[in-house]
Amino acid sequence: MNYNTNMERWQGRVALVTGGSSGVGMATVIALVKQGMKVATCARSMDKLAQLSLDLKAEKGSLLPIHCDLRNEAEIMKMFETIAAQWGGVDVLVNNAGLALDSWIIDGDSEPWRNMIDVNILAPCLCARESVKSMRSRDVNDGHVINLNSMSGHRVGKLHFYSVTKFATQAITDAIRWELRGIQSGIKVSEISPGLIKSNFHKIAYDSQEKADEVYRNGAPLSPDDIAEIVVYLLSTPSHVQVHDILVRHVHQIP
Ligand SMILES: NC(=O)c1ccc[n+]([C@@H]2O[C@H](COP(=O)([O-])OP(=O)(O)OC[C@H]3O[C@@H](n4cnc5c(N)ncnc54)[C@H](OP(=O)(O)O)[C@@H]3O)[C@@H](O)[C@H]2O)c1
Repeated sequence: MNYNTNMERWQGRVALVTGGSSGVGMATVIALVKQGMKVATCARSMDKLAQLSLDLKAEKGSLLPIHCDLRNEAEIMKMFETIAAQWGGVDVLVNNAGLALDSWIIDGDSEPWRNMIDVNILAPCLCARESVKSMRSRDVNDGHVINLNSMSGHRVGKLHFYSVTKFATQAITDAIRWELRGIQSGIKVSEISPGLIKSNFHKIAYDSQEKADEVYRNGAPLSPDDIAEIVVYLLSTPSHVQVHDILVRHVHQIP
């Protein structure tokens, strides 16, 4: 079985990838546009999305950049309206946008915790709800929701409250799967749980490029492209095959 050939069924279909302005989201947008999909992506950095749009002009698929702060439910709803007006609706959701902020539970501020809860927990639930609604309203029974978890969603890492939110991702993925089974839907839900990836993530987490470089010093971190390839693999699986989770670290990462 050549799974890559199964990407043909996604030609001209619509994917929403949240957080396309950087890292894993940007790499995933590029991979899916190259595969011939219509890809909507959102972020707050519209300058980066505009540049990405220009860079992908000559590719097989197309890109719809949307400004959306995922902490704001009204903006999320507006984003789904824009996609429906432009392309009819969403067939694939990649819940990628996420962030860590280094704030301990025993002495940290609640503001960074709220930011992480909004972006890492609430927004993926709202986007999943609206995507599944969109699929069902158009009788799309082969849609796919892919959630970006983390190894920090399987064991508590150094970014403690981030781990709290990523443990929730596991529950969100399983809960969506139960609900879809409950309505006998063929829509699939999968998650990817990466270890260390080199992106903008650690600069934001520690508010310092120097500290981020320190994190990447030992071993060769995963690249955003490594994760984008896993997204393509998940979409390539036959409709009866539902991958639940893919745990992936670079070879020297401990633990
Ligand atoms: N890097 C790692 O080591 C690692 C490991 C495991 C899992 N992950 C997960 O992988 C996913 C992608 O991370 P990454 O490494 O690619 O990080 P990144 O380079 O920092 O990219 C994060 C993306 O999320 C978007 N975002 C953040 N807050 C947002 C908001 N309020 N509204 C809209 N968009 C927002 C950012 O866009 P704007 O800032 O432009 O809005 C950006 O596009 C995340 O879910 C992360 O938890 C990362």
